[in-house]
Amino acid sequence: TGLKELYQDDFYLGTAIGHARLTNPPTGFNALVAREFNALTLENDMKWERVHPQPEQWVWEYADKFIALGEQHKMFMVGHVLVWHSQTPPWVFNDKNGNPVSREVLLARMKSHIDTLAGRYRGRVHAWDVVNEAVDEDQGWRQSPWFKQIGPDFIEHAFHYARAAAPDAHLMYNDYNMHNPGKRQCVVDMIKRFKQTGVPIDGVGMQGHIGLGYPDITEFEKSIKAFAAAGVAVHITELDLDVLPTAWEHIGAEISDNFAYADELNPYPDGLPAKIEAQLAERYAQWFALFLKHRDSIARVTLWGTGDSESWKNNFPVRGRRNYPLLFDRDYQRKSAYHSVAALRK
Ligand code: G3I
Repeated sequence: TGLKELYQDDFYLGTAIGHARLTNPPTGFNALVAREFNALTLENDMKWERVHPQPEQWVWEYADKFIALGEQHKMFMVGHVLVWHSQTPPWVFNDKNGNPVSREVLLARMKSHIDTLAGRYRGRVHAWDVVNEAVDEDQGWRQSPWFKQIGPDFIEHAFHYARAAAPDAHLMYNDYNMHNPGKRQCVVDMIKRFKQTGVPIDGVGMQGHIGLGYPDITEFEKSIKAFAAAGVAVHITELDLDVLPTAWEHIGAEISDNFAYADELNPYPDGLPAKIEAQLAERYAQWFALFLKHRDSIARVTLWGTGDSESWKNNFPVRGRRNYPLLFDRDYQRKSAYHSVAALRK
């Protein structure tokens, strides 16, 4: 049995699949994914710059492959992502001279992108991250090109376009640091406003990039409750658990650029010490216990990757580290964190 069976009465259990694993899976990888998970997200290949790099160019090969894999195993398919400020090519926002296009032109580009992408997978992508990361930390809108060139209503337009293109899909707003009280309030206000004015929002994605010491689990729980009370399904969309120093002050640097700090920033190059391994397992169990407590509100929990070698956390915020954020190790063996999550349901 896999995790998906243990949790089948609770919520979907998902994983995200990256480009390398999709195109060149290691032996046994697809079978493992099918055994353990019943929901699938594409980590990068449906993002605007990948799927629609030029105005007249669409790259369907990888998204199609992803859909085929999920359908083969009857999985709940998550589309990631329709509208985001990051990984969106500059041509979307600018004219040929590099000047920002008008609100009308940008809305038309957004609509056409959503029509084509969500329309192509109509009935086959079951849930869409419609808008990603539109809220800033301190209860305001992120000053993205979407916001600056259209205004805050770019979000509701995106949801209307998505509903029209894929009428049966579950439509979500997705963001990180959702435990943050300012963000919680902003998102709750948005959901309520959308519900009152007929903007089709069905779910909220709480990304869940957590660490051994953060975030405050009670603040995270308050957000689960607040979103559910506002009338949407809660999805934990990008769960991983960082065991390394946060290293924000070195953002974007290679580990070799920080030679003086290398040991400090990459403390476990040869494997996780037993003590940290146990902390990781304990912390994962704590978080899954929270999800189980709110199983009536939570529709899905998706890990942001399967084995530790795949994780973006090996390269963020410092590149080239060895991190251990997932439930399977670099040989795709179950870690003690896996067993502690499984044990909650055995
Ligand atoms: O594919 C190229 C490769 O050809 C090249 O050699 C290499 C050099 O750096 O880059 C590779 O692309 C990288 C890609 O990940 C695949 O590894 C990109 O540079 C890198 O920017 C990209 O990072 C992704 C990141 O989003 C971009 O913002 C991560 O994989 C992905 O996990 C991450 O996911 C986001 C969610 O979409 C939204 N929420 C936050 C989450 C974490 O940032």
